[in-house]
Amino acid sequence: MNMNKTLKNVLLTTVAGAAVTVSSMTFAATEIKAAFNQSDKHPQYLALEEFGKQLEAETDGRYKVTIYPNALLGDQRASLELVQAGAVQMAVVANPLVENYDNTFTAIGMPFAYTGIEHQEKVFTSGALDKLFASTKKFGFEVLTAYTAGSRNVYTKGHNVKSVEDMKGQKIRVMQSNTMVEMLGCMGGTGVPMSQGEVYTAVQQGVLDGGENNEITYADMKHYEVAPYFSKTSHLMVPDLVVISDDFINSMSKEDQATIRRLAKESTVDEFAKWNAQIGKARALAEENGATFIDVDVRQFQESCKPLQQKLIKTDAQKELTKAISELS
Ligand code: GCU
Repeated sequence: MNMNKTLKNVLLTTVAGAAVTVSSMTFAATEIKAAFNQSDKHPQYLALEEFGKQLEAETDGRYKVTIYPNALLGDQRASLELVQAGAVQMAVVANPLVENYDNTFTAIGMPFAYTGIEHQEKVFTSGALDKLFASTKKFGFEVLTAYTAGSRNVYTKGHNVKSVEDMKGQKIRVMQSNTMVEMLGCMGGTGVPMSQGEVYTAVQQGVLDGGENNEITYADMKHYEVAPYFSKTSHLMVPDLVVISDDFINSMSKEDQATIRRLAKESTVDEFAKWNAQIGKARALAEENGATFIDVDVRQFQESCKPLQQKLIKTDAQKELTKAISELS
């Protein structure tokens, strides 16, 4: 939706008190709707908000970003489709959703692909993913940048998971892609694909034994209330991707396109800083509310997921990316 504001007869008062009339000056701000599935306290929301302010300033008010948090515009799968259709201009979606369009993306969201958050930040800010991100234009959207979502861990309602053995028979919600289902299988349990918003009730009603996520989402969505055993498996550091409608970005001037791409990339650095500042607080909040954090020897999960690497990383493009990521560690 375009918000056209016509400022007529703007009075500019001079120091001397004289008034100058600027008649029929037209000021058009184009609204960029951004779909987001978590709360307005989340580091990604805050980084996106800052990005929006900078975009507005650097384009002299031609663009204004409005973020719709808490999945108000639908879950991630639906919001990606809205971006494709051009009904929504931007969204933050997890890598598995984009991987469903092109399996080259599998390489950047494999279990244990990153050695830690510093490694992931280096990869996201190195330019190594630029080619991959531009390649989705044929699907009707472009990936502007990647945000961190920390590392994911398994949590359950009544089971102390420390080993692959302990995962047997556990029905754990995963994000909606085959890689995620396979990954949970290689960890010893059963992966159930579902959108994030349904997890709380599904665990509460016994459809699931638990979920897997980072501490911030775990605390933000109050999943500790239904699944208080949080095992530090750190099995996955799945990128979240900031996507923009291809039609929309093509409607911008070349100069504004360059500005939005640059500011989005810069916001990744800001998002990592905001993430690092919040993560400890999220864990403390969950603990205060009864969650138990369990230390786990991650090596056995690494071992059990090795065959997945051979199975899913097959194409030259996937292999090249895997190599580039590991060389940045
Ligand atoms: C994380 C991630 C989200 C994703 C969610 C999920 O919170 O940041 O993008 O939607 O996990 O498990 O679905």
